[in-house]
Amino acid sequence: MNRNLSRLKKFEPEKEGLLEEILKGFNKPQKELPSKLFYDERGSALFDEISELDEYYLTRTETSIMLDNIENICSVLGKNCLLIELGSGSSRKIRLLLSGLQDPAGYVPIDISEEYLITSVNALASDYPSLRIFPVYADYTQPFSLPIFEFTHSKKVVYYPGSTIGNFNSAYASGFLSRIANRIGKGNGLLIGIDLKKDKKILEDAYNDQKGVTAEFNLNILQRLNRELGTDFNIDEWKHLAFYNSDEGRIEMHLQSLKDQNVQVNGSLTTFAKNETILTEYSYKYSVEDFKDLISDSYNLEKVWTDKENKFGILYFTVV
Ligand code: AVI
Repeated sequence: MNRNLSRLKKFEPEKEGLLEEILKGFNKPQKELPSKLFYDERGSALFDEISELDEYYLTRTETSIMLDNIENICSVLGKNCLLIELGSGSSRKIRLLLSGLQDPAGYVPIDISEEYLITSVNALASDYPSLRIFPVYADYTQPFSLPIFEFTHSKKVVYYPGSTIGNFNSAYASGFLSRIANRIGKGNGLLIGIDLKKDKKILEDAYNDQKGVTAEFNLNILQRLNRELGTDFNIDEWKHLAFYNSDEGRIEMHLQSLKDQNVQVNGSLTTFAKNETILTEYSYKYSVEDFKDLISDSYNLEKVWTDKENKFGILYFTVV
């Protein structure tokens, strides 16, 4: 086992309670399912496919902003910083930073998939042999603790790319980032990617791609419930729906029932009327100003990098 994996810390994500969570969601006036259910093996592969779609500009734009500004970003982060990535996945994005940073003190990838984490740590270790890696297997929205770092570093920088913060409602996002600020402490940094507000058509196209990959990603949730919880959703009787709610500044993804139907969940029936929807995801879009204000109790905005068309923003904050 490589020395990085011997440092692996595990906070086994809660599996119990999923059924209760689902039943609770189905009892709300607007029925809902937790969007974390998207990311089983099939869902994660579909999300990778989404990232490459013509309409889904987010991943591509964020990467090009990183590439165009890597020297400046790395000089703002400074020498000898310790990087902590929330939801590191394949640890592909961090490579740009690791290659540009001067003498990084270490890297802490945090991910909910233990397998993904181990594979990516092995790959990183062979490409960056002198890098100290401290993998943490955890659902970063649940309680977990950071390793104890017995070495000097100039500062900690939490890296949270991909506009994943947009998948939380704004109140939760602000509370969550404030807990992160408390954890890393004053003067430390947050480098975060956010999807910016823009023309409704561009937004809606990104979540309604021509090839139907996003529809498959959305419908995969029902397949997962059938497989893991023994529900009997008939996938052909449901349709993907995604639209921009401009009052709330968010894309909403739903699954819409094509007919009146009953679905068995844990032995009892849940009724869905024709056209009724299950909310599966919010994806909030911000202006830089809105986002800065949202977290201004805990952070100072230091620097903004964006693309020519202002589609996406990479923001650097320090904890106040
Ligand atoms: C992971 N997250 C930032 C994606 C988004 O755009 O909100 C998830 C996604 N949902 C549909 N397409 C992509």
